[in-house]
This record gives sequence, C-alpha cells and structure tokens, in this order.
Amino acid sequence: MLIGKKPDIFPSEITSREVFDNRREFIKAAGFGLIASAASVAGLLPLDARAAVQRQQKINGIVKTPYGAGEKLTDYEDVTTYNNFYEFGTSKSDPASESRFFKPSPWTVSIEGEVKKPKRIAIEDIFKLAPLEERIYRMRCVEAWSMVIPWVGLPLAQLIKWAEPTGNAKYVEFISAADPQTMPGVRVPVLDWPYVEGLRMDEAMHPLTIMAVGLYGEVLPNQNGAPMRLVVPWKYGFKGAKSIVKIRFTEKMPQTAWMKAGPSEYGFYANVNPTVDHPRWTQASERRIGGGLFSPRIKTQMFNGYADQVGQLYTGMDLRKNY
Ligand code: MTE
Repeated sequence: MLIGKKPDIFPSEITSREVFDNRREFIKAAGFGLIASAASVAGLLPLDARAAVQRQQKINGIVKTPYGAGEKLTDYEDVTTYNNFYEFGTSKSDPASESRFFKPSPWTVSIEGEVKKPKRIAIEDIFKLAPLEERIYRMRCVEAWSMVIPWVGLPLAQLIKWAEPTGNAKYVEFISAADPQTMPGVRVPVLDWPYVEGLRMDEAMHPLTIMAVGLYGEVLPNQNGAPMRLVVPWKYGFKGAKSIVKIRFTEKMPQTAWMKAGPSEYGFYANVNPTVDHPRWTQASERRIGGGLFSPRIKTQMFNGYADQVGQLYTGMDLRKNY
C-alpha cells in the first residue's frame, strides 16, 4: 500500500509524506542507509507468479452456507498472485514468489492478555473448534480494488469462546508471524514488525467475522496468510491480519501496524465507507480484479454491502472521525 515501483501499482499509490518520514525513521533506527525494496533484499527477479500457481490440499467436510450465493468469484489465480503481504515484499507478485520457504506447519497460536489463563492452541485443534464453513465474501482493499473470495473458516466467535476472555476484554489484537529467515520483507523496516491488527470485541464476535484457514475448498496458500488469517468483510482488507501467531485481549484499543505507519491514513475502524475518501485513493468506487483493464468501475457500497448486518455496531459514532 506504500511503495509504487511496479507497473501494476497506480501512480496514486505513491507514498505520502507522513508515511515516508515514518518509514525513514524505521530505516534509520535499523541502520539502513538506503531505502531498499523487499525484492532487492530477496535478491531475486520476480517470477511469472500466475504461471507458477500451485493448488493446495483439499479440506474435507466443508459446510456450504448461503453467504455470497450468486456472486461471480475472482479466479483462483488472481486471488493467489495479486496479494498484499509485506512480510514477503511490497509488490503484488512478491507474496506468491517469495513465500515458498515459509512453513505454516507445525503452528500454534498463543492466547494472551485479558483471559482467564494464557494458553496455546495448535492449528489442528482450531480446525476442530467448529465445523468449517465456506463463506463467499466481497473483499475491498483500501487501494480501491476488490475481489470475491470463497473463504473456508470458522466464526472467530468460536475461537474467542475457547479463549475465555475476562470481562475486562474490550478489544482483540491479532499479531502476525515475523520471521526474517523465511519472510524476506521483514528484513526491511517498511512497517514496525510484527504486523498487528485489532477489532473491538463486538466486531470480533460478529457472526460475519471469520478466521479463514482455506479458500476455494483448499488449505490457505502461504501468500494468503497460511495457516490462519482474519477476514472481516465490511472492513478494508488491511484489517485481515495474515499468518496469526498471537491473539491478545486488551482493555485499551490496540495500536495497529498501519496506524503507526500513517495515522492520518489508516484508522482503527477502517470500515468500507464510500463517503470518506482515503487521502490517496477514492473510496467511492472500485476496480474488480480479473475484470480486465477496461471493465467499468463498480460503485463501492457502505460497509462493503454488509450494512444491514453490521450498521448497528456503529450507531452514534462519527465515521468521519472514526475512519
Ligand atoms: N497481513 C500481514 N501480516 N501483512 C500484510 O502485509 N496486508 C493486508 C492484509 N493482511 C497484510 C496482511 C492487506 S493491505 C490486504 S489488502 C490483505 O491482507 C490482502 O489479502 P489477500 O492478499 O489474501 O487478498
């Protein structure tokens, strides 16, 4: 969302001054003299990622749901080769090509903060907490592109129930893996690693919020956040933290990675809202990935079209201030 160097990035994505200065601070702090791109750190030329797409292991016993019935799905190739996952680099093709050494198994998630007692859970046991469902969701990125993805996952509420938060838990923080050995982008301080996202407790418990463990009926590919990532379809895509290793319940609103990088651009709520533009991207319309270069832009809907289900969460809140 920050660096525009490749032709697949719009001129409007050029880094803002505030974000640039923040990043320069990180780079200085880390002792780098130059702004290096994650791709140059990896030292590899970009692969033809689309051609290299590999299908994943099938997940058995997925329960079909009515969510998203009738929506035209974004091709598997686009869902898995046009990604944002800065731990693997900042260009859209980096996550598919640079994540091959990342190991999503074995994997445990630690549960911390305002809980009866801190504990850990293995990914296999998360799979067993509730029947895995297919949910077809529209996904809207703050960069004004969108996809329709058939996720496989379980309601986050089920994992939260297992975690046993205390009455003091008002927010949930999601912390992604940040392993410089297998995630080359982490060696570059484009963000203050690890990637952190958060939700208010009622947002986290909402039935639309899921922990995704798969897509297209198969295990999540590394580039989409294996083995487990957050999916909140009424919010901009950056809320969906990938490859989560830690879930922390807190009394205070968490500081997310993007809030730290550019507080005037990336708010905590990040609800899809066509009436509040991002400083660098219109939020009134979007480009559906896979529709071709000349396909007409689509009008963006309030809460990404999920207003009937989630609008009441924000009654009385000024959504211009709480962006
Ligand atoms: N999670 C981590 N850990 N690192 C990231 O860079 N990018 C976010 C989000 N989750 C990101 C992340 C952004 S900006 C978007 S739009 C979505 O992941 C993209 O998800 P997708 O690549 O599966 O479509």
